[in-house]
Amino acid sequence: MAFVPAGPDAAWWKYAVIYQVYPRSFQDSNGDGVGDLRGVVQRLDYLADLGVDALWLSPFYRSPMRDFGYDVRDHVSIDPLFGDMADFRDLVRGCRDRGLRLIVDFIPNHVSDEHLWFRESRSSRTNPRRDWFVWRDPGEDGGPPNNWRSEFGGPAWTFDETRGQYYYHAFLSSQPDLNWRNPDVVEAMGNVMRFWLDRGVDGFRVDAIHHLIEHAEAPDNPHNPAWREGMDPADRLIKLHTVDQPEAHAAVAAMRAVLASYPGERVLIGEAYLPIDRLVTYYGAAGEGFDLPFNFHLMSTPWTPTAIAVLIATYERSLPDHGWPNWVLSNHDRSRLASRIGLAQTRVAAMLLLTLRGTPTLYQGDELGMADVAIPVDRVRDPLELNVPGLGLGRDPARTPMLWSDAPFAGFSTVEPWLPLSPNHAALNVARQSDQEGSLLSFYRALLALRRAEPALLDGDYVEVAVTEQVLAYERRALGQRLLIVLNLTAKPTATVVQAGVVLLATHDRVQGERLEGEVMLAPHQGILMRLR
Ligand code: NOJ
Repeated sequence: MAFVPAGPDAAWWKYAVIYQVYPRSFQDSNGDGVGDLRGVVQRLDYLADLGVDALWLSPFYRSPMRDFGYDVRDHVSIDPLFGDMADFRDLVRGCRDRGLRLIVDFIPNHVSDEHLWFRESRSSRTNPRRDWFVWRDPGEDGGPPNNWRSEFGGPAWTFDETRGQYYYHAFLSSQPDLNWRNPDVVEAMGNVMRFWLDRGVDGFRVDAIHHLIEHAEAPDNPHNPAWREGMDPADRLIKLHTVDQPEAHAAVAAMRAVLASYPGERVLIGEAYLPIDRLVTYYGAAGEGFDLPFNFHLMSTPWTPTAIAVLIATYERSLPDHGWPNWVLSNHDRSRLASRIGLAQTRVAAMLLLTLRGTPTLYQGDELGMADVAIPVDRVRDPLELNVPGLGLGRDPARTPMLWSDAPFAGFSTVEPWLPLSPNHAALNVARQSDQEGSLLSFYRALLALRRAEPALLDGDYVEVAVTEQVLAYERRALGQRLLIVLNLTAKPTATVVQAGVVLLATHDRVQGERLEGEVMLAPHQGILMRLR
């Protein structure tokens, strides 16, 4: 059982480890090559044994799947590909039985163009839902109203013949943006949240919150002088008027109010790719915002002790008094951890993620050391790669199926999966690593167990101890306990000096109970977690 400090402030999500399940690629239970809810239910024991506390489930709602579920056609039904409401009930029950919390995706920025709301809105300029989306007249030349660009390539405006107007879409043209200035939209989306809260979810991961509202006058975005050929075309412009607009905060507060109207502690997590000073404003000035505005900065910060130490210090300093920190190492939209920093360094990364102050989020397969999988051109599925090919933006490589066993198709499915399997599934799969002392999976299990058991890791202060060319060292302190974490972020050995203490866990080459004091040699890619005397 996890340590949870007593008192009114004791929110489970502060002390939880969140595990992201991308359901298409977790477990296929019906032999169609795509994962589903029943598959997730079948694997709940794995998650409970791993030692995580909450699952965040990427979308499973009815959808034409142009953006693999992030294009919702009906918010309150389950896509038949993933199962049905009975499966969802089983999932909720299965989580409860194992003490796991269930967080679902909530996608407020846009819907599918097949959603009833959009079909009505585009049907005429007099339809009651005419203002549910972001419509504008053509520009003077008859073209789009301004220069805004889609995140997924091309203009962010698509012309609709019937209305004779353009609609705005931050992502695909088949993902029209909802108009959050319209109170009916706020109410309708609140009802979506209520629907899932009534069915027992413990919270939401809110998609693309920085995109929620655009400038009301729709001025052109300025050109980005740093953009060069070969970079993401969406970055040609500075997204001054299309992301992080002040009005988004009221919309988040409205979501928060829905959660607050339910008993018990529920969590609201926001997906926002923003600089730290902007990100922290999403806690809300008085805590009326997100519990956890996702902190993605470990995914983009250079993997060096100095850069990471500066990141941690800047983030810690920037948090408002009511802001609880959180850290993310990877997700379904970014290159895999093992591909970014190398497999040998992933244990150090895990030790960092799980010993920093705040709530960590793991992405499925990272605990196995899964790397990006090269996707042959004829198997590319991601619309981003299809629209903007060849720049390395595609997300399929990070979305390949979980590797469960030596069975055909790695135990993920009984048929060829929707994306190719990792070529090293035989070495990495769960069954193989579970039996292996010293495997990455065993290391994750040990680390997660230690985190649960140590108040200093759950709730302690963060104190930087040393930053060198190779080493990052810090303490976590609580209730008179001092834990020291020493990480060699490089492939070379190095010496470091530590105060007297005993090893609780190491990535490799040191055993629990070993006493250390003074100069200590760190092996390449070695991390050590010690209790100081
Ligand atoms: C963020 C999601 O994580 C990503 O997968 C999706 O494509 C975009 N939002 C658009 O919904």
